Amino acid sequence: MDDLKAKYLGDIAEAADEAALETIRVAAVGKKGEVALKMRELGKMTPEERQVAGPALNALKDEINAALAAKKAALSDAALDERLRTEWLDVTLPGRPSRAGSLHPISQVTEEVTAIFAEMGFAVAEGPRIDTDWYNFDALNIPGHHPARAEMDTFYMAREDGDNRPPHVLRTHTSPVQIRSMEAHGAPLRVICPGGVYRADYDQTHTPMFHQVEGLAIDKDISMANLKWVLEEFVKSYFEVDDVELRFRASHFPFTEPSAEVDIRCSWEGGTLKVGEGDDWLEILGSGMVHPKVLQAGGIDPEQWQGFAFGMGIDRIAMLKYGIPDLRAFFDSDLRWLRHYGFAALDVPTLRGGLSR
Ligand code: PHE
Repeated sequence: MDDLKAKYLGDIAEAADEAALETIRVAAVGKKGEVALKMRELGKMTPEERQVAGPALNALKDEINAALAAKKAALSDAALDERLRTEWLDVTLPGRPSRAGSLHPISQVTEEVTAIFAEMGFAVAEGPRIDTDWYNFDALNIPGHHPARAEMDTFYMAREDGDNRPPHVLRTHTSPVQIRSMEAHGAPLRVICPGGVYRADYDQTHTPMFHQVEGLAIDKDISMANLKWVLEEFVKSYFEVDDVELRFRASHFPFTEPSAEVDIRCSWEGGTLKVGEGDDWLEILGSGMVHPKVLQAGGIDPEQWQGFAFGMGIDRIAMLKYGIPDLRAFFDSDLRWLRHYGFAALDVPTLRGGLSR
């Protein structure tokens, strides 16, 4: 019995994990373990022998069970200690400087534009940047042979060999979201659609990816006068000035009739732009009354409804408001530039709280 005791207590002391401990338990005090076999031998003993051996065997069994339980607790303590050691974290380290990150001017201006149009009852809609040429062109009254397709410097997606369906395009403007919004919500409708667009073009004021915000309002009695008022209100709020003068120049877009490009009066004295005064004019957007064919393509009856639409360059109005001279720097991810032109992330622009402060 002393041998058994020495053997099992030794094994228990050396067990490396709970699985090894369980193997020892089965071999020692399990139903068919060595202690149980010894208990069976009690029957063959004389009563005197049994009186000594019985309690001794029970004591041995208790001792082994106690050793197993103690070792099990020690092993799980060790496992916890190991976890605490490897997951250690110094919570007394200083925090990161609070202005390490900032909002990109594009994000800031998108939020400003959204806040202004939200105040006038416009919801925000989004569409995919990779779109079919039906949404980007055909539905907008730009059929396959139309010169506007070439003018847009479109990026076409490659198709698998032998796949003759028309290719997808990187959308060249946010106007396809007009169609998607009409399909999704019908008339009446008032949405703006901000987002990235793509054209193969690159110089100081053009990058192959840039941002636009589309505006679309459809109702029973909408005219150019509504368009003019909405744009004037927008420009005043956005540039944070009391008065602006807008110039509507006759223009042409296949998806609007009539069409107008809109300039704002400004001055460039000493290289800085001032909006609302001076003798210069600066083009900021294209606009017009939605073409009946476009309403039709969006599932809206042009006999009953009319609308206006406009498309404005977000990067462009960001450059103007914040005096950023080169568009290409917007997308260089230069931390020094981002720190200089970035905005505090928690200052949400609102008309009452201040747009850009
Ligand atoms: N989609 C035109 C562009 O990219 C802008 C525009 C939008 C013009 C809506 C009229 C109406 O230049």
